[in-house]
Amino acid sequence: MSKRYTITAALPYTNGPIHIGHLAGVYVPADIYARYLRMRNKEVLFICGSDEHGVAISMKAKKEGITPKEVIDKYHNMIKNSFDAFGISFDYYGRTSSDVHRKTAQEFFKTMHDEGCFETQTTKQLYDAKEDQFLADRYVTGTCPKCGNPEAYGDQCESCGSSLNATDLIEPKSALSGEPPSLKTTTHWYLPLDRYEDFLRSWILESHKSDWKTNVLGQVKSWIDDGLKPRAVTRDLSWGIPVPVEGGENKVLYVWFDAPIGYISATKEWALQTGKDWKPYWQGKNTELVHFIGKDNIVFHCIIFPSVLKAMGSYILPENVPANEFLNLEGQKLSTSKNWAVWLHEYLEDFPGKQDVLRYVLTANAPETKDNDFTWSDFQTRNNSELVAIFGNFINRVMVLMRKYYDGKVPVPNAYNEADESTRSELATAPHKIAALIEQYKFRAASQEMMQLARLGNKYLADEEPWKLIKTNPDRVATIMHTALQVAAGLAIVSEPFLPYTAQKLRNMLQIESNLDWDSLNGLSPIGGGHQLGEATLLFEKIEDDAITKQLERLTS
Ligand code: 2FM
Ligand code: ZN
Repeated sequence: MSKRYTITAALPYTNGPIHIGHLAGVYVPADIYARYLRMRNKEVLFICGSDEHGVAISMKAKKEGITPKEVIDKYHNMIKNSFDAFGISFDYYGRTSSDVHRKTAQEFFKTMHDEGCFETQTTKQLYDAKEDQFLADRYVTGTCPKCGNPEAYGDQCESCGSSLNATDLIEPKSALSGEPPSLKTTTHWYLPLDRYEDFLRSWILESHKSDWKTNVLGQVKSWIDDGLKPRAVTRDLSWGIPVPVEGGENKVLYVWFDAPIGYISATKEWALQTGKDWKPYWQGKNTELVHFIGKDNIVFHCIIFPSVLKAMGSYILPENVPANEFLNLEGQKLSTSKNWAVWLHEYLEDFPGKQDVLRYVLTANAPETKDNDFTWSDFQTRNNSELVAIFGNFINRVMVLMRKYYDGKVPVPNAYNEADESTRSELATAPHKIAALIEQYKFRAASQEMMQLARLGNKYLADEEPWKLIKTNPDRVATIMHTALQVAAGLAIVSEPFLPYTAQKLRNMLQIESNLDWDSLNGLSPIGGGHQLGEATLLFEKIEDDAITKQLERLTS
């Protein structure tokens, strides 16, 4: 039986729009992976949705004087539209405010509660008396006890990545009133992560020591070596999923308890819509589960959620969690509050129809092994010197010459010489090289192999110079043009995961809509003699300096 893939991409918080950092870190790589697997005819379910609970949303609502529901509705739609526009091909995009999700998350909690998977602790917690509010998570800031960052949150320090309890913060202060909090007694349910230490050590640090990324293994190891401690999975808040057991009145599930369960609820909703069964995607032994996330989500996807899945018993564990590092912008950390970001909805207004350009630049410069920098100057260079000058130029030359010499009807090749054979053999190996890189989550290198194929086509035409031979040796030109066209067809296939809009345009130009998948290039000519090509359209256009200057001005204004 062939493998099934459940691919998840981190559920974005609906407290604001999304920017290039989100796209580069999570959604473009996940989409490349899903599109690639579909082209290999694998059974793929690509799931995402909006993360609509948590303090970030309540705080945004409070700041804007609207309800949390108004906040989530606004940003859910905005984020979903951005994903659609950028061709992120989710099979289902859910939201954690749905009924199915509430029921599913409550079932998880109740089952674990009834089976004794939690312990309760009554402790003194930070409390803002003025606002009558317990201060967990983002309701409180203070100095990180691990790295000294003065702006750490009550659940996490974004500077060193440590996960914290609010009471760990040095000199805490309420994010609501700005006052130092007092202490008040409260009772919560805790997931005793210490019980899962042996399981996590052997599953990740031993079984996956050679196939998971070193940045992920490093964080997991440091977590485990620091000693896993019980982690509260409930909160004294009003916005969230009610705790479904006795004593849970006025309490909600911790957002990081319910959010990853959102992948499962989204799958259930997808199954209801399509008449399928959701279970094989989460419980089938033949299913490979892959979580695409940013590095700040590693602990939740590698330690906490797997412990929950393990406790539930019948669920599969992720096969890989290829977390990316962060993308910076023009040398500085992306920041929503400082408006230091390239927002996707604004990019689409300024560069309509150029979604693939951004997808390409973010992939070619993806923060796969270290934090990377996005600069507008690099964006312009990658567009003008790679997409236009290499990829676009090659396709344009092939289409123009085909029209000029053969009125768009593909010629039958004659005997291949050494240059043709070498080009054909490089063409045949390209999909294997790209596939191997994608399967190792090396999307950056894979995108460069794709560009290498366009370079090969350009070089072949430049070396063979069909334009000099068309009068004297038309038989030779037929072979050259036939061979060049195979490279163009190869590009239409291998560019699909990276540049879906371009690949679609190219397939229309080559008139190869439905009959080619990833394996079509296995040494065979996908387009035979006599095939009629379609009309040529421009794939990429030069981006001028003034468009780049405008973006830089927008950033600093
Ligand atoms: O970090 C974030 O943006 C979270 N909303 C990601 C959640 S991923 C999943 F677990 F739901
Ligand atoms: Zn820190």
